[in-house]
Amino acid sequence: MVTILAIKGGAKTRNKPFNTWPDFKEEYLDKIVKMIKGKVLWRGLEIPKFWDNKSAINISEEFEQLFSNHIKSKYVFSLNSGSTALIIACKALRLRKEDEVIVSPYTYFASASSIKEAGATPVFVDICSDTLNIAIKSIEQKITEKTKALMIVHFGGIPVDMEPICQISRKYNLAIIEDCAHVINAKWDNKNVGTIGTVGCFSFQGTKLITAGEGGAIACDDRELANYMFALHNGGRIDNSPYRHELLGGNYRISEIQSALLMLGWEFFFEQEKIRKINAEYFYEKVSEIDGITIIDNNNPKIERNYYIIAIRYNHLHFEGLTKKRFILALNAEGIPCSAGYDKGLYKNPLFFQNYSGDSEYDNIYPETEKACNEIIWFPHHLFLGKKDDVDDIINAIHKIKENVRQILPKKRTAK
Ligand SMILES: Cc1ncc(COP(=O)(O)O)c(C=O)c1O
Repeated sequence: MVTILAIKGGAKTRNKPFNTWPDFKEEYLDKIVKMIKGKVLWRGLEIPKFWDNKSAINISEEFEQLFSNHIKSKYVFSLNSGSTALIIACKALRLRKEDEVIVSPYTYFASASSIKEAGATPVFVDICSDTLNIAIKSIEQKITEKTKALMIVHFGGIPVDMEPICQISRKYNLAIIEDCAHVINAKWDNKNVGTIGTVGCFSFQGTKLITAGEGGAIACDDRELANYMFALHNGGRIDNSPYRHELLGGNYRISEIQSALLMLGWEFFFEQEKIRKINAEYFYEKVSEIDGITIIDNNNPKIERNYYIIAIRYNHLHFEGLTKKRFILALNAEGIPCSAGYDKGLYKNPLFFQNYSGDSEYDNIYPETEKACNEIIWFPHHLFLGKKDDVDDIINAIHKIKENVRQILPKKRTAK
């Protein structure tokens, strides 16, 4: 019997929806109402009380205290987004116009735009093929007298190996900003990532592992730096006086309603991460048996990863030339959500052009990023919050497409 692919009108591999994200059930919403009832809904202007070992005075501080105790960072405050966290961290390094910050180009815009917004220039270093994180061995070639910091993105939930990063930082006296938008409770050598560099910046945007729809957090161990960053996010107030604004800061505060959502997200995060790990590992085991697919993972024993983006590398040559774009459309039609991820390295964004003379120029400079944009496919983490059967549906859909790929290859033109 011929199996027709769903994209050609056949039956879908999966008809029921996967887990949605975030997974707030009715009873959770009741909890949120209880948490915020009778409270002032903004967090107030003062630097968090818990910084001096006092108890938290509002929901935002309560969350910050939890987070700070857990990741073992002395000073943590939450704010309105991960992008803001990165901008504030970059501004706090007091970068000047001629300064450069090294960053990988296979990342979200904000990892580089924050450097620009702080007035400096992002300098891109290619990624490595196995983790899609910055290629550490290539960093030193890009260091100049202007280099002031390293922006280290822990892509997809896989921590960067921080030992060589810290060595480079010490050797050249560079600050480290960790972009932790994809990680929460991920570890390198038993230390939480986000606490190893100078500043760690987290995101709680809608797709993230803990979410308030929007939101972010900053972690650091230096009190002076923490106070400065807190002031920048809080109207530039350096002491707690409401109308003394001494820095050019803005209002980037988080609200108490967002913090209530974060408290709830925190409550379920650890259990969810266990389930994600079991299912994602099972997925990786099964999917790597398929010819033409390789997994993006890390086997460094020092690293404990998150499963935020469950990424695979697709080699179209093993699928009779079926393009990645068409493969994704076919998977989506089978009822499997997945996406192409970043379609261009950030060096191709005109905002970051330096001596630009055409896109093709970059193909040789950043070959791994180019390959990643062409080959990597992202599966969102909430697909892995259910049961093994859900993962089997993903695997079965891939097998189905591979076995019936000829149905969706472009027709060969015949000579006239
Ligand atoms: C790697 C990375 N850094 C920073 C951010 C910015 O976070 P936010 O969306 O909270 O501004 C994101 C968001 O997706 C991200 O993926």
